[in-house]
Amino acid sequence: MARPGHMAWLLLAGVLLQLAASAAGQQCLSATFQNGRTFLKCNPLPVLGASLHWTHHAENGTADVAFRAPQQSNGWVAWGINTRGTTMPGSSVFIASQDSSGAVSVLMTVLESTSPSLNNGSLSFDVLSPPSADYTNGVYTIFATIALPNNSTTQNTVWQAGPGNTGSVAQHSISGPNVQSMLRLDFLSGQSTGASNSRLHRRNIHGILNAVSWGILIPMGAMIARYLRVFEAADPAWFYLHITCQLSGYILGVAGWALGLKLGSESKGITYSAHRNIGIAIFCLATLQVFALLLRPDKKNKYRFYWNIYHHSVGYSAIVLAAVNIFKGLDILKPASGWKRSYIAILATLGGVALLLEAITWVIVLRRKKSDKSSSYGATNGNGRA
Ligand SMILES: *[C@@H]1O[C@H](CO)[C@@H](O)[C@H](O)[C@H]1NC(C)=O
Ligand SMILES: *[C@@H]1O[C@H](CO)[C@@H](O)[C@H](O)[C@H]1NC(C)=O
Ligand SMILES: *[C@@H]1O[C@H](CO)[C@@H](O)[C@H](O)[C@H]1NC(C)=O
Ligand SMILES: *[C@@H]1O[C@H](CO)[C@@H](O)[C@H](O)[C@H]1NC(C)=O
Repeated sequence: MARPGHMAWLLLAGVLLQLAASAAGQQCLSATFQNGRTFLKCNPLPVLGASLHWTHHAENGTADVAFRAPQQSNGWVAWGINTRGTTMPGSSVFIASQDSSGAVSVLMTVLESTSPSLNNGSLSFDVLSPPSADYTNGVYTIFATIALPNNSTTQNTVWQAGPGNTGSVAQHSISGPNVQSMLRLDFLSGQSTGASNSRLHRRNIHGILNAVSWGILIPMGAMIARYLRVFEAADPAWFYLHITCQLSGYILGVAGWALGLKLGSESKGITYSAHRNIGIAIFCLATLQVFALLLRPDKKNKYRFYWNIYHHSVGYSAIVLAAVNIFKGLDILKPASGWKRSYIAILATLGGVALLLEAITWVIVLRRKKSDKSSSYGATNGNGRA
C-alpha cells in the first residue's frame, strides 16, 4: 500500500510550506514601529527586502500604511499606488530620503515617464494626514494614511529603492529586482498577485528564444558550413544542414526579436537603447542573409567570389553582435547567475570545437594542395584519394 506513504509526504510538505510561510509572516508581524504604532496586516514583498504593513478601515475606505525597506543612509525608498495601470509610470508615490544631518523627509509625487524632476505635490488619491518616515538600523519606514483610490480594496502597488547623494534622489537600477517591484494587493484579505509575473515570464521566453536561435543555432550553422564543406563526402549534405540550422534559427530568432520589441514598447519609462538597437541591427543583417540565399550566383560565376565575401562578413558580424547582445540581455534580466555561466560554457564549447575543426581543416586543405601539386607534376595517381 503506497497510499499512507504518500499521505505522510504530502503532510510533511504541507507542514514545511506552512512553516516557511509563517516564518516570513511572523517576521513581518513581529515588526515594531516608532511611537508604538501597530498594524493589523502585513505582506513581505517579493523583492528589495521590503515589507508592507497596514490596517484597513472598511467603514470609510481608508488604510494606515507602513512601508519598510532597507537602504544605505544616502539612498531613498518609495512606495505607492498606480491608479492608471500596473507599471511605475503613472504611480502616486511617497519617497523617503534624508539630508546630511540625518533628517528624513517624505516627498509626494506622481511619476511621469517623461519628467525626471520630482515635485512635491498632491497624489491621485487623498492623503489624510501628512506622511512621515524614519530611518533606523539601515531601514527606512514610511507612514501614511490614505483613502484607497476609488474606494476599492484591490490596488496596483509599486515600491522602489535607489541610491542618492544625500538629499537628492538618483535613478534606481533599471534591471533585475528594481523592475519587478509591482504587486496587485487586496487590502482586505492581504492576498497579492504579481502584476509583473506575466511580464517577467515573457521576458524569460524572449531571452531563451534569442539565446537558442542567435546564440546557438546560427553559430552552429556557420560552423557546419565552414568545416563540413571540406569533407567531399559531406558535399550536398552540409549545405542542407547549414540552411536548416540558419532558417530555423532565423524563424525562432525573429519570434524572439518581435517579442523583445513588444516588451520594449510596453516598457514606457525605461528604454534599453543599446540592447534594442543591436537587436534591430542583428535582425537586418540576418534578413540580408536570407535574401543572399536567393541571390546566390552559381559556383562558376565570377561574382561568386564577391558574394562569398559579403555572405561571410555579414554572417560573422551578426554572430558577434548576437553574442554581445545576449550578454546585454542577461545583464538586464539578471537571471540566476547559472544562466550566464551556462551561456559562457556554450560559447566556450562552440569556440573550442571551432578551433579544433579549424586546425583539422587546415591540415586537410594543405594536404590536398600538396597532392594536387604532385599530380600536376605528372603523377599517374592524381586521383588516388583514400
Ligand atoms: C467605501 O465603501 C464602503 C463599503 O463598501 C462604504 O461603507 C464607504 O462609505 C465607502 N467610502 C467612500 C469614501 O465612498
Ligand atoms: C476611518 O475609520 C477609522 C476607524 O474607524 C478612523 O480611525 C478614521 O479616523 C476614519 N477616517 C476618516 C477620514 O473618517
Ligand atoms: C511635501 O509637502 C508636504 C505637505 O504637503 C510636507 O509635509 C512635506 O514635508 C513636503 N516634503 C518635502 C520633501 O518637501
Ligand atoms: C472605479 O470603479 C468603477 C467600478 O468598479 C470603475 O468602473 C471605474 O473605472 C473605477 N475608476 C477608476 C479611476 O479606477
